[in-house]
Amino acid sequence: GSQNVIDITESMTKNNNEATNNINEINKTIKLDNTKTSTTLQEQKEDNITDKLKVISKSVKDKVKIKKPLLEHPTVHVNVKRDPKVQVARLKLPVLGEEQRIMELVNENQFLIVAGETGSGKTTQIPQFLYEAGYAEKKMVAVTEPRRVATVAMSARVAHELALTNKEVSYLMRFEGNTTKDTKIKFMTDGVLLKEIQSDFLLSKYSVVIIDEAHERSVYTDILLGLLSRIVPLRCKRGSPLRLIIMSATLRVEDFTENTRLFKQPPPVIKIESRQFPVTVHFNKNTYKDYLKEAFRKTVKIHTRLPEGGILIFVTGQQEVRYLLRKLKSCFPYRKDVDYSKLITKNTKGVEVDTALDSEPDDINSDDDEVEKEMKRARKARRKAKKKVKALPKINLDDYDMPEDDGQADLVGNDDDSEGHLSDSDAEEDSLMPEIKSCRQPLWVLPLYSMLNSNKQARVFEPPPVGARLCVVSTDVAETSLTIPAIKYVVDTGKKKMKVHDHVTGASAWRVVWTSQASAGQRAGRAGRVCAGHVYRLYSSAVYQHDCPPQHAPDLCRRPVDDLVLMMKCMGIDKVVNFPFPTAPDRLQLRLAEKRLETLGILERHDSKNASRNCQEEILKVTPLGKAVSAFPLLPRYGKMLALSHQQALLPYTIALVAALTVPEVMSGKADNWPATGHTLLLGDPGVLLRAVGAAEYAHRKGEEQLFCAKYGLREKAIKEIRKIRKQLASEINLSVAGVDVSVDPEMKPPDEKQARLLRQLVLSGLGDQVGRKIGLDEVKEGEDKRKFKYAYHCGDLEEPVHLHSASVLRKTIPEWVVYQQLYETGAEERRKMVMSNVTAIEPEWLPVYVPQLCNLGEPLSDPEPRYEDVTGKVLCHYKGTFGKAGWELPVVEIE
Ligand code: CDP
Ligand code: MG
Repeated sequence: GSQNVIDITESMTKNNNEATNNINEINKTIKLDNTKTSTTLQEQKEDNITDKLKVISKSVKDKVKIKKPLLEHPTVHVNVKRDPKVQVARLKLPVLGEEQRIMELVNENQFLIVAGETGSGKTTQIPQFLYEAGYAEKKMVAVTEPRRVATVAMSARVAHELALTNKEVSYLMRFEGNTTKDTKIKFMTDGVLLKEIQSDFLLSKYSVVIIDEAHERSVYTDILLGLLSRIVPLRCKRGSPLRLIIMSATLRVEDFTENTRLFKQPPPVIKIESRQFPVTVHFNKNTYKDYLKEAFRKTVKIHTRLPEGGILIFVTGQQEVRYLLRKLKSCFPYRKDVDYSKLITKNTKGVEVDTALDSEPDDINSDDDEVEKEMKRARKARRKAKKKVKALPKINLDDYDMPEDDGQADLVGNDDDSEGHLSDSDAEEDSLMPEIKSCRQPLWVLPLYSMLNSNKQARVFEPPPVGARLCVVSTDVAETSLTIPAIKYVVDTGKKKMKVHDHVTGASAWRVVWTSQASAGQRAGRAGRVCAGHVYRLYSSAVYQHDCPPQHAPDLCRRPVDDLVLMMKCMGIDKVVNFPFPTAPDRLQLRLAEKRLETLGILERHDSKNASRNCQEEILKVTPLGKAVSAFPLLPRYGKMLALSHQQALLPYTIALVAALTVPEVMSGKADNWPATGHTLLLGDPGVLLRAVGAAEYAHRKGEEQLFCAKYGLREKAIKEIRKIRKQLASEINLSVAGVDVSVDPEMKPPDEKQARLLRQLVLSGLGDQVGRKIGLDEVKEGEDKRKFKYAYHCGDLEEPVHLHSASVLRKTIPEWVVYQQLYETGAEERRKMVMSNVTAIEPEWLPVYVPQLCNLGEPLSDPEPRYEDVTGKVLCHYKGTFGKAGWELPVVEIE
């Protein structure tokens, strides 16, 4: 059985040929270069990229005689015929005043940092400066963006301003692009440039690389910065210089300048000063859980009570954008057949307005006053409305020319947390109804989010129709990536969606969290671009103080390291520990992750000759299995289970199993609800999970999920989440692995005996570094066992005895050898103990096959004689050996 599984892996990895070839290419060039894997401080300082560069540059030096490393810059000047209107608009941008200084610094330096307020013109103008100076003549100018939305919008804008076509100023991102052989300026997502580095390490097609939005600190951007910090000097040494321009909002520039691993000498920084009008910050007195409803109310109040000026609302995701969009459009519709220019807008100049609305810029209003005021206003408005608006025509939605919905489902993000918000209960808005009805000015409401298609995005840059007020409902893309003109009011929910990773299960999910204080500042800034503005924060200043972190840690430092290590190894970055990260993850954690991945057979040691030091050394590289594993959006150990079960009969089970293992606390209470039976008993807790998931799906089909979950102690939300992950994994596997079509039967037949055995082996293959062995009670140290356990386990290096989780089905059998998903402490002081959960029974003779790295087998036994397998011709021998550091004795095993 097991051999079967391993053969399958090989066939699976073949499907990844293309990527593997690329990596081999890189590794060929790296091969000669690596330093020893010893850990002395001096050697840690050397990183493999530097070495790689040294070797390449050395060979280049031999061929080409370079007198001086110099930065030649193009002497041509390219003329541009800009539309006069465009020229007028760009002259207003602060970055224009710095053109000469920027170009001087670019000409004279390898690296340059440009920091400037959002909207100062960095993204749209600096590529044009380079174009005009001739940098795009022989080679291309690359601009990377962490967000797809900016990639398209900015390339279109730059093409327009330069009066070029999208053949010359193009974009490229995964699944989409319009680059041609004539492309001169290429906007791309950061992931795309990383891929290009894998096939052309020196980025020889480019003369300048601009890393835009570097403050966002996306994983890819951070890795790109590390790589480019080494590629750029090499290109210069080769006599074909490359420049790197790092552009960011004015946040935490020190991460780049004060990092001596990244740049030996801090690069020059240009700060673009831009005019920023004062923005008044209004905090809410109370923080409402339903921030969407609150956003709606606030927007209604701004529109009905405050003077002209665009409104920008920040919410967390596409679905929320669409919800607010619908609501606001239906309240203040825009009609084509009405001439709004004649409409006299309320609150014309000269009238004092209470911009605080019901927020709290200072403490003048007590809550009671506020309520009183509110009621008065409502009463007044209602009277007015009754008088005047009675005769408003009945609305027929078909008559309205509204910016239409684009009907896309929310593809990104987990909306669990927002489900509650999206109900259309209008009770709350009743008090606002009169105001809504009496307001005749339409709101020109536009959506903005990452997946919105590009022609719809572009509308936010156009002025609204005459008489209508602009209102953009956006995710955090409007925070720094896109600048919307003419915004005076910002409504900030204070929330954003962030990918959070569970470090135990490796599962990642989108969660709604508080924004950082830095983000709140950025959002506020959007209101002061054209005139003094206001930001309404829909949360209290206490929340701002205590719940909003000053900054969120960079993505790269938030994800589990196993994942990161594998990802980087797949990119051909061998010495992850020495990589010049802008913000480095914990080195010890990186080392431990490497070790774990080696134990799991995802990385393996390679000997390579170090030419510069003339010695042998060992480095850890990704194995073909590891390559297959990296295709799954899971922690490598779970990816491995999937990769190995690439066999039609088992894949559906493994998908369900992995999905269930990556969701925390599926079962509440004891396993008694799920009496284990027969051959599935040894599969242990994962087996119970499989049964539970199948049964819950059956109940779901019958519409009895809720009842079923309650009755059998399942967490309903967990079951829903598992369903989602199963679907996602299945579709991803269908997409990425050729020749496979996993159609998941949600209810699953229970696995038969052979399948159950194979599943246990798969679980072992992923958890092979977490093996426990039962010990006799006499092995438990004196005094340890006050609580009179009938059994105990030893796990790895841990001295303490470990017990099965109280909910484990395996308490019934207490098998000799097990693997576990998680190990942790429970109980207070006296009753403290170590416990393992999600436990599966394994057979020790599987260990040399699945975890050979931890087995010590020695010479084959001479008795019995080696056996020749008929079919395969393999010679099978008998071995006696031990497992792990503690040297647990293994039974005699028969392997190749
Ligand atoms: O990159 P940075 O935030 O410094 O500014 P930018 O994105 O280059 O934007 C400069 C100006 O161009 C802003 O005022 C935008 O509103 C404007 N813009 C536009 O009018 N239409 C576009 N399609 C893109 C930008
Ligand atoms: Mg920009």
